[in-house]
Amino acid sequence: MEIKTYLNEQRRVVEDALERYMLGIEVQDGTFTAHIEAMRYSLFAGGKRIRPILCLAAGQAIEKRPSPDHDLLPIACALECIHTYSLIHDDLPAMDNDDLRRGKPTNHILYGEAGAILAGDGLLTWAFDLLSDWKQGSLPPEKRLTILHTVARAAGSLGMVGGQALDIANENKEFPFETLRTIHQSKTGALITASILAGAIGAGADQPQQEALTRYGEQVGLAFQIVDDLLNVTATTEQLGKAAGSDAGRGKATYPAFFGIDATREKARAAVEEAERALTLFDDKADPLRAIARYISTRSH
Ligand code: IPE
Ligand code: IPE
Ligand code: MG
Ligand code: MG
Repeated sequence: MEIKTYLNEQRRVVEDALERYMLGIEVQDGTFTAHIEAMRYSLFAGGKRIRPILCLAAGQAIEKRPSPDHDLLPIACALECIHTYSLIHDDLPAMDNDDLRRGKPTNHILYGEAGAILAGDGLLTWAFDLLSDWKQGSLPPEKRLTILHTVARAAGSLGMVGGQALDIANENKEFPFETLRTIHQSKTGALITASILAGAIGAGADQPQQEALTRYGEQVGLAFQIVDDLLNVTATTEQLGKAAGSDAGRGKATYPAFFGIDATREKARAAVEEAERALTLFDDKADPLRAIARYISTRSH
């Protein structure tokens, strides 16, 4: 199947599930309507859904069944909530100060800074509500806890939040390449790796499979952020749905700033090749993971 068709289909699966789960927190008497609306606004603004899709694809690589395991859907949706919260906060004036995201005004432009902070808080917290809801599906408690811990670790100070802190602290600074790699691995790579691992654990991956998928996730996550840096320089605001050229303006730590465009492209390609190599022990059920890795290095937004 063509990768674009696969991604579109899976995006729909994730969005249908998000809509369904959202009903569970849309309160009857309308007291929290404005807050929930701010959460919905960013959640349904048109993201690529790459983290939940990777989670489901990792599950498919392990599972015998061809369709997404319904046990994985709440987990996949939780990952998208964490990601969307991270974008809402990333765009705040105190952070990257961006006005445009997913082709629309950023959350704080519409709902104010307090509203955006709380929409992010709401999404992050709801993610852990979804992850811990043992009444959904049939995951054994031990597996659910392992997934919860994996995601919490990756989203927090040893992962995404820590990477964001390092990203902000190094604006307009000179720093060694190791710092740049750490920023990218933590602010973006950690949650992507956890998404893949969560899907794999949920589908019953054994230790060697989990290790191979961790290697795959680390390389795909790194490639994803390298390409994000690259597109910030080479694509237009219209193509991206977010401000092009903003990294240089804020003195951000990026691969193109470090290596220039051609060497950066080469590094993204090398990371994707290594990601594909990490999948050698998997059969053709891992083809979507292989195709997603290749898509990441050639994506245009
Ligand atoms: C953008 O992520 C921020 C990064 C971590 C690179 P995505 O490119 O996945 O953004 P959406 O979800 O598709 O908008
Ligand atoms: C975003 O990194 C990483 C997050 C964890 C949100 P960037 O700040 O480079 O991403 P964009 O370019 O705003 O999407
Ligand atoms: Mg940022
Ligand atoms: Mg940003």
